[in-house]
Amino acid sequence: MIRVRPATPSDARDLMAVRFAVKENVLTSSRAAELGIDAGAIADMLGKGQPPSHVCFCAEDGDTVVGFSMGDLRDGSVYALFVRPEHEGKGVGARLMAPLVAALRDAGHATLTLTTERDTRAFGFYARRGWVERGSNDLGEAVMTLPGQDVSRFDEARRSRLRLVRPDGRFEASYRAYLDELGDEERYPFPMDFDPQDFDAMLRRIERFERGVDLPDGYVPSSTFWLVDGQDLLGVSNLRHRLNSGLRACGGHIGLGIRPSRRGEGLGIELLARTIEQARARGIGDVHIHCHAGNEASARMIRRVGGVLQSEHVPPDGARTVLRFVVAHPNARP
Ligand SMILES: CC(C)(COP(=O)(O)OP(=O)(O)OC[C@H]1O[C@@H](n2cnc3c(N)ncnc32)[C@H](O)[C@@H]1OP(=O)(O)O)[C@@H](O)C(=O)NCCC(=O)NCCS
Repeated sequence: MIRVRPATPSDARDLMAVRFAVKENVLTSSRAAELGIDAGAIADMLGKGQPPSHVCFCAEDGDTVVGFSMGDLRDGSVYALFVRPEHEGKGVGARLMAPLVAALRDAGHATLTLTTERDTRAFGFYARRGWVERGSNDLGEAVMTLPGQDVSRFDEARRSRLRLVRPDGRFEASYRAYLDELGDEERYPFPMDFDPQDFDAMLRRIERFERGVDLPDGYVPSSTFWLVDGQDLLGVSNLRHRLNSGLRACGGHIGLGIRPSRRGEGLGIELLARTIEQARARGIGDVHIHCHAGNEASARMIRRVGGVLQSEHVPPDGARTVLRFVVAHPNARP
């Protein structure tokens, strides 16, 4: 009988033996050595003497390891899925994949990625399980993603109380209290920096940004949304209607913030997901979302809604590194 269990660093040798036994996607020991893949490296990845960078599950038949799945906890990618040829066709791959997908999602990745050669059985295996081909990598292999599921942390009743509204004078008191809470903190998104003294004038300015009127250099038209619960303003987002070269480098389509006293409740995820819906309604396919390296809450929030890290941008002026994520359109192929 086949048993699936989490693998540990001490399984590394057995995992390598499975890796060398497969007949498709063959890896020779000399190529493995060139790539620096050996039992020692695998043991390290699984947490030998250091925090694990990867998670792994293995399938055993009696005492023999007959397959394993392994994923990268840092970026939500599937690193490996291999089953010994004599154990193929028995559902072992599917049993290895399910806990891996769950573990990578638990690590904060809504959308998972993998690369595999086309015209292999692996490709069909993934496609039948909801993985969608998104394009090719530098080696010409297919890049596939498994889209995220419903991301909201809230039950239906709570969700229906939360509303995404256009900036409105009815929330003036709450907006001012929000600004007081922010104090000297850097403000996101940028309309939070508009002078609120004349509240109506501020609202009109936000509206001019939406219509693309009187935009400062480098700005594109953008819509501002407020996430409210009753009379309380909980968060603010801004959706750029398109990217220009500056926003592509740093800024992306969406900026947002949650009022300090309400952070960590899942409202950032909620606001971002709803703002992405607005982006889709505008016909924006791939939604670019950026955050500074070290902004852990922001990076986790972006991953939760399906963001996949595309690149890191180190600004030439020595400013903070920018992590650039993309939330791909569920049906889009770039
Ligand atoms: C970034 C921000 C919008 C996130 O909103 P939030 O409501 O606090 O976040 P959520 O409660 O929705 O949680 C999002 C994720 O961040 C994690 N998180 C929340 N606060 C965190 C913290 N202080 N440190 C690390 N992770 C944190 C949550 O656990 C969650 O991840 P998980 O689902 O993997 O557990 C909010 O913290 C904020 O307004 N920060 C200041 C402005 C800012 O940085 N904006 C982003 C600019 S790109």
